[in-house]
Amino acid sequence: MINGDLWPDNKGVHINAHGGGILAHGGQYYWFGEDKIAGVEGRLAWHGVHAYSSSALIHWQDEGIALAVNDDPASPICRGCRIERPKVIFNKATGRFVMWFHSTNDKHTLARSGVAVAEHVLGPYRLVHARRPDAGRWPLNATEADRDPATAGVAAAVGESAFGNGEWDFNTRHNILGRDFANGQMARDMNLFVDDDGAAYHIHASEHNGTLHIARLTDDYLDHAEYVRAFPNRWMEAPAMFKRDGRYYLLMSGCTGWAPNAARGAVAEHPFGPWREIGNPCRGVNPANGLGAELTYGSQSTFVLRLPDDRYLAMFDLWQPKDFIDSRYLWLPVVFTSEGYEIHWTPEVVIGLQRRG
Ligand code: GAL
Repeated sequence: MINGDLWPDNKGVHINAHGGGILAHGGQYYWFGEDKIAGVEGRLAWHGVHAYSSSALIHWQDEGIALAVNDDPASPICRGCRIERPKVIFNKATGRFVMWFHSTNDKHTLARSGVAVAEHVLGPYRLVHARRPDAGRWPLNATEADRDPATAGVAAAVGESAFGNGEWDFNTRHNILGRDFANGQMARDMNLFVDDDGAAYHIHASEHNGTLHIARLTDDYLDHAEYVRAFPNRWMEAPAMFKRDGRYYLLMSGCTGWAPNAARGAVAEHPFGPWREIGNPCRGVNPANGLGAELTYGSQSTFVLRLPDDRYLAMFDLWQPKDFIDSRYLWLPVVFTSEGYEIHWTPEVVIGLQRRG
């Protein structure tokens, strides 16, 4: 498999699971992602979350739609909404599969977390709720200034629509966290991470994308238990958390919509931080488009997969915003260093698992 080429499934159709992630369960791999249609309309959800299965990560079987849209205009997953960056984890205590995703509308203003559950890995998943998390809950690292009702009131009076993407100074001057304390925090680009002790974390862009929130989930994985703010006013999107030898790592993008930007890396000793940025981890150039680390080879991060032999693969989306169904995938090896990690361009997707696909 050549990075960035069409990736045919068992029916010869290009895999349709964008902004996705992979769950290893019962000796199989399951890839869940956004099902896209052709053209710019592909930015919206017309079918739902698409699932594929594989034993060795190269040959993928189409398993159809795991979470389907419906035709109820009152539903958060009505056809034509947005279902972005879906991820699935397994809860050992409840025996259920839990999916989280960014749940929003065409205008991209809702900033909610969708949560769906299923008894079987491939679904059907049923929506539990879609809402802004952490209503009435301060982050563990909230400051006195964050809790100031006066500045929260000023931010509320400004109105949400005044806060555009990337408006660093405007955001910094406003107490968005305080504004959203009562009704819940914004939740956009996201990922899930399950630690060795079974504690699961939801990492999501919040506060109009200016600041990431990292939340530990409740034991059933359906809600947040507690959370911290991380990277205040650094405009991180597309977060992917992974762990090796007791250290935690994040791979993220900047905030430029579908257009690529430079990736960012960070390291911590605990999922709640403190996080230390290590700059852009990417190395090398994608010869197909001539783009290197400065634009993440033309792509944006979506997930980091740990293989059983202690290798890690960083997964990226090469978005095609004029024809979403043609968006491609890059799977690149993660190389660990004393400082943190690097991601190296390689022409081929190298898996090398000793199992038949
Ligand atoms: C990107 C984000 C995508 C999607 C897109 C919409 O920055 O990573 O998941 O939300 O913006 O413009």
